[in-house]
Amino acid sequence: MTLKKNLFKIVGIVVITVLLIIQFFHTKKNLSNDNTNDISNKFPVPETIQLILKTSCNDCHSNLTVYPWYSNLQPVDWWLTNHVNEGKRELNFSEFSSYRIYRQYKKLGDIIEEIKDDEMPLSSYLIIHGNAKLNESQKAELTLWAESLRESMKTQYPADSLVNPKKRKQEEKSHE
Ligand code: HEC
Repeated sequence: MTLKKNLFKIVGIVVITVLLIIQFFHTKKNLSNDNTNDISNKFPVPETIQLILKTSCNDCHSNLTVYPWYSNLQPVDWWLTNHVNEGKRELNFSEFSSYRIYRQYKKLGDIIEEIKDDEMPLSSYLIIHGNAKLNESQKAELTLWAESLRESMKTQYPADSLVNPKKRKQEEKSHE
């Protein structure tokens, strides 16, 4: 056998061995029954909105990911877990009520922005979850809902509690 052929064989065996070995590693699933701080415990979340969140957002923005079968395969598992962790860090509907007031207010604004810019759900997710794509009426419903929550927060809390304290200090400085 030529050297080249041997090399291919060795590389092939190494790749397959690595793929087999990583199958023994599993990340912890993002599944928690604790819904104490769920957004619906603080804000009204009508059933239509709940359904949209469940179908289009909650896999990455809640503590209740619905896992496809292939999520048990590596490296898919790592890749998905990474996405879920990143998504939850930005916005977690299961923890929403525990956020500081200004953060809740800000994140509701971010939701409106993300929908307007067609950024969410992530396009890589839509390849497999075609039904998660938001249609125009779903976008309008979500936006209206987030806007109405922001309006109600404005009447409920003093204006400066809706601003990140760090930003507030910067602004005060710039006015000095
Ligand atoms: C496949 C996973 C996934 C799905 C599904 C998903 N997101 Fe995200 N989302 C992410 C990730 C990852 C980030 C952080 C990185 C980024 O902004 O791209 C994020 C960020 C965000 C942010 C924060 C942006 C900011 O500026 O703070 C908002 C708001 C958001 N998503 C809303 C939604 C909404 C609303 C839905 C459902 C319509 C949704 N996402 C569906 C993964 C997802």
